[in-house]
Order: sequence, then C-alpha cells, then structure tokens
Amino acid sequence: MAEPVVGPDSPVALITGATGVVGTQAAIALRARGYRVALHGRNRRRMARVVRACPDPEESVLALTGDLAEEGTAAALVDAVTDRFGRLDVLVAAAGAFPKEDFESADDQVWDSILSLNLSAQTKLLRRALGPLKKARPGVVVFIGSEPVTRPVARPDQEAYYASKGGLLGLARGLQASLLDEPVSTVIVHPDWTLPDQEVTDPSAQLPAGNLGAALAHIVEMAGLVRVREVTLHPLGSATESVDRTPRNTG
Ligand SMILES: NC(=O)c1ccc[n+]([C@@H]2O[C@H](COP(=O)([O-])OP(=O)(O)OC[C@H]3O[C@@H](n4cnc5c(N)ncnc54)[C@H](OP(=O)(O)O)[C@@H]3O)[C@@H](O)[C@H]2O)c1
Repeated sequence: MAEPVVGPDSPVALITGATGVVGTQAAIALRARGYRVALHGRNRRRMARVVRACPDPEESVLALTGDLAEEGTAAALVDAVTDRFGRLDVLVAAAGAFPKEDFESADDQVWDSILSLNLSAQTKLLRRALGPLKKARPGVVVFIGSEPVTRPVARPDQEAYYASKGGLLGLARGLQASLLDEPVSTVIVHPDWTLPDQEVTDPSAQLPAGNLGAALAHIVEMAGLVRVREVTLHPLGSATESVDRTPRNTG
C-alpha cells in the first residue's frame, strides 16, 4: 500500500490510550488513512514503538505523555495538539483501566481512580477539545464503551468498570442530544473482548485488536458522513444473545 502523504490540510486525530491494545491499533489505522495523529499515553517505551509503527512520523505524529487523571493534563494535551497541527478533527478516547476488585473490601481510592480515568477524564478532555472539534466540520468523537453494558450480563468484581462505562454511555447519549445542532458527531463504540492479534486463540470469542483498529477508523470516517451513535463490535462468528438460533421454518 502507498504511504499516506500528509500536508497542512490533512485532518488530525488525537488518540488517548495510544500505548494500549486498542489505542495503538486505532492510531495505526487512522495514520494509514492519511490522518496526522497526536498520540497520548504514559509508557514512553511503548509510545516510541507506536511512533515507529506509523509512516512518516516526523511530519505526521506528535507523541505526548502524562497522567490523564491529573488536573490540567486535558487542557495541556489539547493545547499541544492545536499548537503543533493547528487543528483537531477527531478524538478517539481509548485510555481506560479495568482492574478487578472485590466490591466490599476494595479501597475507596480504587473506585475513585477508575471512575476518574474512565469517566471524568473523558469528560474534561472533551470539554477542552470541543472548541477545535466544532471548527473541524465535521468533528468526530469516539468514546470506547464496553460490550457488556449493552446487555444484562456482567462478570464479578468489575463494578467500578461497569459503572464507569455505563456512565460513559450516559455521557455519550447526553452529548448526542446537546450537540445535535453542532458539526460534531459523538459515537460510543462497545467492543467485545479484544486482544493483540498474536494473542488471539479463539477467534469466535476474541476480537483481534488490528481488526478493531481498522473498524474504528471506518467508524470515524462514517461518522463524518452520517450520524452514527452507538456501535457494538463482536468477533466474527461469535454467538451473541441477540441472535435467534431457532431453525428456519419452525414457525
Ligand atoms: N481490551 C478489551 O478487551 C476491551 C474491550 C472493551 C472495551 N475496552 C476499552 O478500551 C479501552 C482501551 O483498552 P485496552 O485494552 O487498550 O487497555 P490497555 O491495553 O490496558 O491500554 C490502556 C491505555 O490507557 C492508558 N492509561 C491508563 N491509565 C492512564 C492514565 N491515568 N493517564 C493516561 N493514560 C492512561 C494506558 O497508558 P500506559 O499503558 O502508557 O500507562 C494505555 O495506553 C479501555 O477504555 C477499555 O475499557 C477494552
């Protein structure tokens, strides 16, 4: 495939969690589609690896590190992106944490830190990013939810995670209403269990992260054309509860 050429008019995507399983692949897929990408994460070694995986990084990649749960990070991040590239068209908010904790004995701080990163930090970041996103026409925001919040199933010891992702779903729906007349599309994507491609052992139950990254890049482009609100992504061949497996012709 030809290397995507970028210039001053190329759209810009900010991807948080870019050092993680999902964000790395979203960044690579968006870069392959000609986006200039601003990558955010904490781990500098993994960040260097993601930057190397992007073509033409000097011209098209801005790597930023910091703790999103800290006060001031969101503002500094958006300022750094607009200072470098002069615009912001897409925000893919893929930073997140999902530790397992026993509900009763877990430290309150663990609950606060999960809610703070998975929900409050996303809110603060989008508040800062909305100004430049509105100028993008269309601006696109992609929140990463979680498949279980779309249906009445859950696994034990992940109450804070489910609470944060349920809250994110509420945030996305609220913003879809509040931003109806603005040139900004807010999408929430609920991926099923996702693993780095090489770690997938059961393709009917696990989504390869490369496929998810490519799907996210498609969703970003789709959201610039039509209103996309909520997308749930399952591995190919997975049996979900929404599939009626009654044999045909049984009435
Ligand atoms: N993987 C799945 O099965 C799956 C399924 C559904 C939804 N999701 C959602 O997708 C998102 C990404 O998941 P993932 O699998 O890519 O997780 P991951 O591999 O653990 O990556 C998490 C990312 O978030 C960043 N991060 C964590 N805490 C941060 C903080 N305080 N400040 C700034 N960045 C921080 C990490 O940065 P560093 O690594 O540099 O610290 C990393 O880039 C999460 O919201 C998750 O809930 C994942």
